[in-house]
Amino acid sequence: MVLENFIAFEGGDGTGTSTQLALLRNRLESGAGRPPFHCCFEPTDGSIGRLIRAALRGDENLLPETVARLFAADRGEHLYGPGGVAERCARGELVVSDRYVPSSLVYQGLECGQTLPLSLNSLFPQPELVLYFDLDPEVAVGRLQGRAVKDAYEKLDFQLRVRERYEAILPDYAAGGSRIERIDASLSVEEVAGQVWSLISRLPIMGG
Ligand code: TYD
Repeated sequence: MVLENFIAFEGGDGTGTSTQLALLRNRLESGAGRPPFHCCFEPTDGSIGRLIRAALRGDENLLPETVARLFAADRGEHLYGPGGVAERCARGELVVSDRYVPSSLVYQGLECGQTLPLSLNSLFPQPELVLYFDLDPEVAVGRLQGRAVKDAYEKLDFQLRVRERYEAILPDYAAGGSRIERIDASLSVEEVAGQVWSLISRLPIMGG
C-alpha cells in the first residue's frame, strides 16, 4: 500500500539527507500557500529510537536481529503513534522522513540477511516518493570525518556495501508502488537542494 503525501529520503551515511531535509523545511516554512508539512527522521528521538542510537554507538550490546526488530518497532510508533506519519498524511499534511524502510532493508539486510528485515517491514505502507541520495562512499565517508561520535556503520568498507545494497533493493521497492528518484549528491549543497525542490514542488499536494 502506498501512503500519499509521504516522502522518504534515503542514502548511505554522509550523503547529506539531514542537511537537505533542514533546507527543505526552511523552504517549506517560508513559502506562502504551501500545504501543512512535517519533517521527521528514523531512528526517532522516542524511547526505542534512543535505544537504537545507543546500540549503534556501541553503548548497548545487542544482537543484529534485535536491532532489526527495534528499528521496526520504532517505525511502528513513528507511523501509527499519536501525531504519527499515518495520521498526518490522512489529514493532508506533506510528511518527509529522513530514512524509512529501505534503510532497514539495506543496513539490517547486511547485518542479519534479507529475510528478517523483509518480514519485519512487509506490512508498512510505502512512501509516494523516495529520494535516493547517491554519492561515492569515499566522498561520503570523508564528509563524516569531522563528526565526534562515529556509528558502527560509518566505515568505508561497510558504506561500499550499503551503496551496492541500495542499488539492489530499490528496484524491488519501486515495484511495491513508490516512485524512486535518484539525487546526484556529489553536487553542491545548493544544487542538490535545487534538485530536491524541483521534485517536491511538482507533487500533487504542492499543486504541481
Ligand atoms: P542517520 O540518519 O545517519 O542519523 P545521524 O545522522 O543522526 O547519525 O541514521 C543513523 C544510522 O541508522 C544510519 O547509519 C543508518 C541507520 N539505520 C539503519 O540501520 N536502519 C534503519 O532502518 C534506519 C532508519 C537507519
